Amino acid sequence: MSTENSNHAATSRREFVKQSTLLAGGLLAAPLLSRANLFSGADDTIKIALSGCGGRGTGAAMQALSTKQNVKLIAMADAFRDNLDRSYNRLTAPENTKNNGGVNIAERIDVPEERKFVGFDAYQKAIPLADVVILTTPPGFRPIHFEEAVKQSKQIFMEKPVATDPAGIKRVLEAAEIAKQKKLNVVVGLQRHFQNSYRELYKRKDLIGDITSAQAWWNNDGVWVNKRKYNQTEMEYQMRNWYYFVWLCGDHICEQHIHNIDVINWFKGGVPVKAQGMGGRQVRKGKDFGEIFDHHYVEFHYADGSILNSQCRHIPGTMSKVDELLIGTKGKIQCDAANIVDPKGKVLYQYDKKGENNPYQTEHDELFAAIAKGEYKFADAEHGAMSTMTSILGRMATYSGQVIEWDKAINSGLDLHPKQYDWNVLPPVLPNEDGLYPVATPGVTRYV
Ligand SMILES: NC(=O)c1ccc[n+]([C@@H]2O[C@H](COP(=O)([O-])OP(=O)(O)OC[C@H]3O[C@@H](n4cnc5c(N)ncnc54)[C@H](O)[C@@H]3O)[C@@H](O)[C@H]2O)c1
Repeated sequence: MSTENSNHAATSRREFVKQSTLLAGGLLAAPLLSRANLFSGADDTIKIALSGCGGRGTGAAMQALSTKQNVKLIAMADAFRDNLDRSYNRLTAPENTKNNGGVNIAERIDVPEERKFVGFDAYQKAIPLADVVILTTPPGFRPIHFEEAVKQSKQIFMEKPVATDPAGIKRVLEAAEIAKQKKLNVVVGLQRHFQNSYRELYKRKDLIGDITSAQAWWNNDGVWVNKRKYNQTEMEYQMRNWYYFVWLCGDHICEQHIHNIDVINWFKGGVPVKAQGMGGRQVRKGKDFGEIFDHHYVEFHYADGSILNSQCRHIPGTMSKVDELLIGTKGKIQCDAANIVDPKGKVLYQYDKKGENNPYQTEHDELFAAIAKGEYKFADAEHGAMSTMTSILGRMATYSGQVIEWDKAINSGLDLHPKQYDWNVLPPVLPNEDGLYPVATPGVTRYV
């Protein structure tokens, strides 16, 4: 960082600290916190806290620590100590001690024992210590972690989905509004927005005229399973095997297929007004698979009459495809092929994939560059919430087999979460005497 920037940052830091103190004491209205987007600390270091130290959290921390700014990981929080340790060991592994393009990741890690926090309340201890927080737990916890980060006036990177139920969406939308007033940068890990090919296609979307329909796919074999272990409480088991529980994961239409649904919302510039669909579990059977489906097929209807046909499947041995297609009055955008064609197939635009970037890195590069410059550039929480809600709407449609309207769904008050998080509290869904969990049955299951 240049001296000019350092001086600027130091002054801004003092203002930030002063204003944060006033805000904490309730003496300043949030909109006056015009400089809350600048970092704090004893020097110009941007301090990072990681909440949710799993695969993605470790990756996101690595990307944040690989940016050009003067960054340091200073706190880690996880529900489980072994997961936190695994993440810490990966981050400080020998290969990260090498100087890589001027960055030595391991040297940017300063997380002594007293800043490693474990348990359901770990986030409350880690967030206050940082300037930037990385929120990468299973999505069920995102609303409360995001709320806390906004309350503490932090800059935020949070993974998708941002909730698993409409009650969580409402909390995220309310906190997003406060984040805007406080001018806190918020990036959501819907990384196609940071991917060169998607950005170039988006710039040229008018080449296809009005979008009249779309298709989106996330079809593959499925994901990991963590089997029940001896002596686990039900809460620990579900937390370890979180993918298979709707309150924690949202089902795979929400957890993975959100990426494709989000692209269609982005290019359409809005969200659907209703959805209907079908789904079930054909091969995902037995005790290890909790309550989620292995396939969903949904028609999402937009206000202008256009329809997104969306499909996601987790069934080994079937066709794999992760892609989006937008069809307009004058042509088609084929996202994976990164091109735009006219109705006869003539290529109107082809993105050269040699120019493709790593969008996971770019989202951090751009976020941290903005923070270091004191810029307020990213307000992604709202569109993250809208795309999450779209995928929840799809799930409500496939679980119930009914036509579900957006307004009714988002205002349904559906809240899947326990009142309290504790290892001995019973989770909201429990197995029967054979160890099997209740699974939604279309035609029987009500959407709230
Ligand atoms: N953008 C992407 O392409 C992408 C890719 C992978 C994952 N993700 C998202 O990242 C999130 C995490 O996924 P993952 O693959 O890293 O899962 P993971 O299981 O590897 O990691 C989750 C971590 O969070 C911890 N955790 C659970 N509850 C917690 C709590 N209440 N407080 C603190 N820590 C808690 C777990 O112990 C675990 O270490 C998910 O929302 C997922 O959808 C996004």
